[in-house]
Amino acid sequence: MTIALTGDRPTGPLHLGHYVGSLQNRLKMQDTYDQHIMIADIQALTDNFENPKKVTENVFELMKDYLSIGLDPRKNTFFIQSQISELGELTIYYLNLVTVARLERNPTVKTEIQQKGYDDSIPAGFLCYPVSQAADITIVQAEVVPVGEDQLPMIEQTNEIVRRFNRIYNGEYLKECKPVLSQTTRLVGIDGKTKAGKSLGNAIFLSDSPEEIKRKVFSMFTDPGHLKISDPGKIEGNVVFAYLDAFHANKEEISDLKAHYQKGGLGDTAIKTLLNTTLQELLEPIRSARSAIQLNDIKDVLKIGTNKTRQTALKTMEQVRQAIGLQYWQ
Ligand code: TRP
Repeated sequence: MTIALTGDRPTGPLHLGHYVGSLQNRLKMQDTYDQHIMIADIQALTDNFENPKKVTENVFELMKDYLSIGLDPRKNTFFIQSQISELGELTIYYLNLVTVARLERNPTVKTEIQQKGYDDSIPAGFLCYPVSQAADITIVQAEVVPVGEDQLPMIEQTNEIVRRFNRIYNGEYLKECKPVLSQTTRLVGIDGKTKAGKSLGNAIFLSDSPEEIKRKVFSMFTDPGHLKISDPGKIEGNVVFAYLDAFHANKEEISDLKAHYQKGGLGDTAIKTLLNTTLQELLEPIRSARSAIQLNDIKDVLKIGTNKTRQTALKTMEQVRQAIGLQYWQ
């Protein structure tokens, strides 16, 4: 079976944007791929090294998110990045194959550097995280990587490293990989900003309480010009309709509601009430699955997956050292 590798930084709970994007993809792929799901705590530390608690506390929370939506421990290999020390070694070898200028050109890293305001004080670890990501992907010899669009530059950089390694050390040691993109477009934040995210405070989390969900739905951005129920309302930029499109099963009903809203006579409270019901029905079973998860079970799943991944990593590293010529005692 083709090996897939994917993962997330454990820096906060997963939200509905993840749910319609990468998580749906992984749910599908768990049946047809040998899917490895990595908790990227090393990568999370590259911009949270002064606040390691934020990272460590979110490792098991992220696992709860994964299991509660139906990612099955019998079908997936879950592991923790920092517990595979070979990843550090492989990263060091790869760092020789990448220039600083190339790292500075990585569009995703560039955006993040701007967002974080690093200016001239970029931590070297942060600048180099795409190289460590190349190590993640290649150490399990993954051929596919299910990710969102923002991760495409990482795949491109990984494949550049793979080609360079194979050329310089003269052999087909490493495999190139392909991204698997999710079908859905990005889910907007509840404030109508383009991206939903934890730091922006505009996301509905899979683990939110019923009250929290309701509060967020009723605070959603709609159409500021739609003051009276009888006023015609706008659909474009209306967050409630964006979420109804993403989560309501009956497309026809939504299209009728849109027509009614545009014509006038349909109030925000009515559409928000419908969305609230829709999201409560979606998230209730996830929340109850989550509350049934035992911490010890999570730890067992991660231990088994991490040990299995370490065996694979050891095999890859043997080939890598042999390729470079780092075998002195044989
Ligand atoms: N870069 C991903 C993120 O920001 C996490 C990640 C680390 C990853 N290594 C990976 C994703 C390897 C896919 C494959 O969430």
